[in-house]
Amino acid sequence: MPETLLVEREGRVAILTLNRPDKLNALNDQVREDMLTALAEIEKDDAVGVVVITGAGEKSFIAGADIGEFAGRTPFDQRHAMRSPRIFDVMASFPKPVIAMINGFCLGGGCELAMSCDIRIASEKARFGQPEINLGLIPGGGGTQRLPRLVGLGNALRLILSGDMIGAAEAQSIGLVEMVVPHEELRAKTLELANKIASKSPLTIKVAKEAVRASERLAIEDGIPYERDLFCLCFSTADKEEGVKAFLEKRPAQWQGR
Ligand code: COA
Repeated sequence: MPETLLVEREGRVAILTLNRPDKLNALNDQVREDMLTALAEIEKDDAVGVVVITGAGEKSFIAGADIGEFAGRTPFDQRHAMRSPRIFDVMASFPKPVIAMINGFCLGGGCELAMSCDIRIASEKARFGQPEINLGLIPGGGGTQRLPRLVGLGNALRLILSGDMIGAAEAQSIGLVEMVVPHEELRAKTLELANKIASKSPLTIKVAKEAVRASERLAIEDGIPYERDLFCLCFSTADKEEGVKAFLEKRPAQWQGR
């Protein structure tokens, strides 16, 4: 059996490629487990600063959950398959930035996985949608919660209730993706951003992600003082001393990650 998840390293960036191109990289139990294992290792690896997730082949990022696994499943079987830790939540709270490099179909659980990432970069060939309604289902990987936060209630309901697919330009116009690039430039543009982020202080990047992610769950009157506390916490780091000193001395900073 070929590996369902390929892991490569390019400098301080780890690239995870879902590798079931003949099934448009549909997410099955094995892929989810392999992703959890890979992320647990990457979390401990100080040599990795940023994670990029993509799909193998020219056609698809991830075309959703593996529909073949749904047939005949009982609610208890499904509840077991959806037990914690869930890949969507692990990625959203992962202490290193995760970028979705969306190379094609980004549907159902694939779109939910992309929404769990911190930044989404799409090929202009990418197609997006939450087609679960056509299977007698609703999104189950966080789509009913994360999609409205990104695109607003109306657009989330339009996509979830119709099951319609939209192209990359429209996905960008409603806030579902942050960048759209020519297909042949997708990897280069994604790695350019990933490497830039990976060149910053990993400690400060972690705190910045935590602060921004907190805005998903905190009211503004709680989020602002939380940000202040995290900002002040940065004053305990060697990297804050170095960053400020380097600016004043007009030289690049040498980050230590502490
Ligand atoms: N789960 C399992 N298998 C899937 C899949 C999924 N989510 N999406 C695609 N595949 C499989 C197809 O069954 C087909 O397998 P086969 O060659 O063994 O028959 C293969 O991937 C290629 O897909 P195909 O449908 O032939 O490609 P297409 O270009 O004609 O259509 C899609 C592409 C994405 C429009 C179509 O595959 C599709 O609608 N997929 C399901 C999307 C979905 O509902 N996702 C949400 C799941 S909850």
